Amino acid sequence: MEFNLEQIDTLLSTTRAVRRRLDFNREVPDEVLLRCIDLAEQAPSGGNVASRRWLVIRDPDTKARLAALYRDAGGRGLIETAERLRGSAQARARVVTSAAYLAQHLERVPVLVLVTVWGTHDGSGRPGLFDSVLQAAWSFCLALRARGLGSAWTTLHLGRAREVADLLGIPDGVTQIVLLPVAHTQGTDFTPVTRRPAAAITWFDRWGDTNAHPRDGRSLLAAGPGVTVEVDIAAAPTRVWELVSDINLPARFSTEFLGATWIDTESPRVGAAFVGRNRQEGGREGPDGPAPMQSRQWQTTSYIVAWEPPWVLAWNVSDPAQPSAQWRFELEALGSGTRLRQHVTIGPGMSGTARAMQQHPEQAQQILTRRRDQLRRNMERTTHGIKQLAESPGEDPAASPR
Ligand SMILES: Cc1cc2nc3c(=O)[nH]c(=O)nc-3n(C[C@H](O)[C@H](O)[C@H](O)COP(=O)(O)O)c2cc1C
Repeated sequence: MEFNLEQIDTLLSTTRAVRRRLDFNREVPDEVLLRCIDLAEQAPSGGNVASRRWLVIRDPDTKARLAALYRDAGGRGLIETAERLRGSAQARARVVTSAAYLAQHLERVPVLVLVTVWGTHDGSGRPGLFDSVLQAAWSFCLALRARGLGSAWTTLHLGRAREVADLLGIPDGVTQIVLLPVAHTQGTDFTPVTRRPAAAITWFDRWGDTNAHPRDGRSLLAAGPGVTVEVDIAAAPTRVWELVSDINLPARFSTEFLGATWIDTESPRVGAAFVGRNRQEGGREGPDGPAPMQSRQWQTTSYIVAWEPPWVLAWNVSDPAQPSAQWRFELEALGSGTRLRQHVTIGPGMSGTARAMQQHPEQAQQILTRRRDQLRRNMERTTHGIKQLAESPGEDPAASPR
């Protein structure tokens, strides 16, 4: 049997959180729900023990009380935030407005499905509870979507789990996982959204290593191998950006980068260039060859290819079109903090590493691994240094020995 991949991929990529397009006026038959639950129950569970239980809530009075608990547990706060954000261009305004709409109208949704599991987590970190439910609950959402129905994954009510258990007669020893409001959707044309591409969040063989394997018979470097380092910082993106956008700052932490000077500019922008000074010690940390290397110093010119305060700073080294390396800082808002990501792609242009790999093809993989390790160590020093500076502005981590 061959699957229709186009349809299946469409299902997988367009099963959205539906809130404002839930049809409150159309009946949802039990047969449809039971069929979708049967499909969902095909999902695996720890030890193959059938411990999932599904509560279908239709009674208007029970729905109203559940909706009130949902609002007590945070829905009301969402509604107020949505009011404040009304008309705002902030990206999160769209999600908050939609979530607030659901919080306001939860009792009007034809069916609320609460997915639960027998058991309470023992805190051991071993599989066996949530991981025996989530896959089934998501299968249920996919099965709904395939039938013209929709839902939104909600967990706000868990803040009032005790009261919800009392309301619904849920016994002790059962854990509530997710509340899924279910209705037909108004129209079925949902679209994929932009998420981080797989290549940017998939590591090969070692944490942070991207594009490690050549594909289609291409060379190791043509695959665009890279390293990503991430750190969560308890400071606002604007504060982190002040540090990241100072191109000299990494010199305080990196053992390779000595500093940089802007060329002909006071105000960085796309196209602006700077000269960077670098150093490598000989011996074990030697750069690009399998044999211990001589110490060396060198300069490179880099060109800014992205300057988007306070979110993205990227530059290409040596040749903007055929760079020897591509560097990128990305900042992501994380509540009131920031996730800082530093990424480097080696190549595709010529570099010390590329030359060493050409000269010693039999050791190319080893050379690349060694270079990645050097880069990773310095990127970790830099990002953790930025974290310390951002979180405790009074102290200077570079002042302490590395
Ligand atoms: C663990 C988890 C908890 C969530 N809790 C809520 C919630 O309580 N209320 C709500 O309206 N949406 C909730 N959501 C839905 C997310 O806001 C939604 O998946 C996200 O906005 C992406 O929407 P999209 O799938 O349509 O792109 C939750 C999602 C997850 C994964």
